Amino acid sequence: MNVASYQFPAAFQWGAATAAYQIEGAATADGRKPSVWDRFSAIRGRVLKGDTGAIACDHYHRYEQDIQLMVKLGIRHYRFSIAWSRILPEGRGNVNWAGIDFYQRLVDGLLSHGITPHATLFHWDSPQALEDRYGSWRSREMALDFADYVTAVVSRLGDRITHWMTLNEILCFTHMGYAVDKIPPHAPGTQVKSLKEVWQTSHHALLAHGLGCQAIRAASPIPCSVALVDNPVIPVPITESAADIAAAQAAFSTIEGNGGIIVPALTGAYSPVLLERLGANAPDIQTGDLDIIHQPLDALGLNLYSGTYVRAADNPCGYVCLAYPTGYPRLHMPWLWVVPDAIYWGVRHVGKTLGQSDLPIVMTENGCAAQDEVNAAGEVIDSDRIFYLRQYLKSAHRAVAEGYPLQGYFVWSLLDNFEWSWGYDRRFGITYVDYATQQRIPKASFHWYAECIRQNRVC
Ligand code: FCB
Repeated sequence: MNVASYQFPAAFQWGAATAAYQIEGAATADGRKPSVWDRFSAIRGRVLKGDTGAIACDHYHRYEQDIQLMVKLGIRHYRFSIAWSRILPEGRGNVNWAGIDFYQRLVDGLLSHGITPHATLFHWDSPQALEDRYGSWRSREMALDFADYVTAVVSRLGDRITHWMTLNEILCFTHMGYAVDKIPPHAPGTQVKSLKEVWQTSHHALLAHGLGCQAIRAASPIPCSVALVDNPVIPVPITESAADIAAAQAAFSTIEGNGGIIVPALTGAYSPVLLERLGANAPDIQTGDLDIIHQPLDALGLNLYSGTYVRAADNPCGYVCLAYPTGYPRLHMPWLWVVPDAIYWGVRHVGKTLGQSDLPIVMTENGCAAQDEVNAAGEVIDSDRIFYLRQYLKSAHRAVAEGYPLQGYFVWSLLDNFEWSWGYDRRFGITYVDYATQQRIPKASFHWYAECIRQNRVC
């Protein structure tokens, strides 16, 4: 591997990612019933400009055209998610064959072009029926229903999908979907009475992950890879002095939600520092729960967009988080501070801080929103996105060059799409979508990324 030219090893996986609710549309087609995002986005004021995922990129009807885009891009790996309410419209019970059929057609199309499907089983769109029945993630029953849904999917698609991911970003759909004293910004948008109830939702999601891993392994007819996708906060040492590096490592397992999600999932125990901080607000954990949660994984997916600078401090935790100065570069989201080193440090922290040095890591999402415009020539020149992606990929390369087991990179996203409570206002795609006509226009970043893939290096 040539370090100076940012060349990646031959086996490095280049890919692109999407999620069902953000691109599929066809919300009522072929037996699909509402998910919490259908209900949430239909409530006035919840999503910017009243946008919903009812049509989105109409990928459900245009998936063949979208596979052609992937072929043009040159990716050999594609991450997408399966919509629970297409497979089990009521959340449990009868399997909807039309839903299975759609994903079979999609996957067969991918495979016929040499593209390996990486399927996320849950990317936030829980069936509304389960929210109505028992408050979805507020109930332990949700973890059991999730495992049954996983069995329904893997037993029918496991002959052609070998890369499975359980849940996407637990903290987002639990701690941003359930909140105390305010309406949370994510579906289902449920107000609860205590922080303990919020932590209980993420505990149930962890249980779902564990039971889901077991269900995948039991149902898959062929050997497969099982992963969790998480978005931990990444502490980046402000200098690479030994003291600041130690501070960043100390921060990794306790900063924000990390101690209650990635730490128990990978080590089998909540961070003691977090539990002490939570006190009576810590979730109820039943005997055996942590063993279920702590399943062996074949890979860890990291969704990384930004990072938090820390430095060593003479205080009980040994670090302080540093505020971003006014004018620090950001892309088109309030939280999208440009911190490329987050990839390198994210990979290194998992290996060194959590003692998982052999666990293969895949960058399951990285990308940015930009204020893309189609110019008079019909092109989208998103040099800001190229600038962003190039720096993050160099950071990924550093991790690989230093021997960390980073095996792949999926850009978020193949297409502009429904960006949750920001609706269609924020464009994360390397392909521009004209929502009025559903025309796809590959942006400059698409052509740049295709060249990186072709040359297997950061161009
Ligand atoms: C991640 C989500 C993904 C997308 C990007 C921008 O948190 O997993 O669906 O919204 O952010």
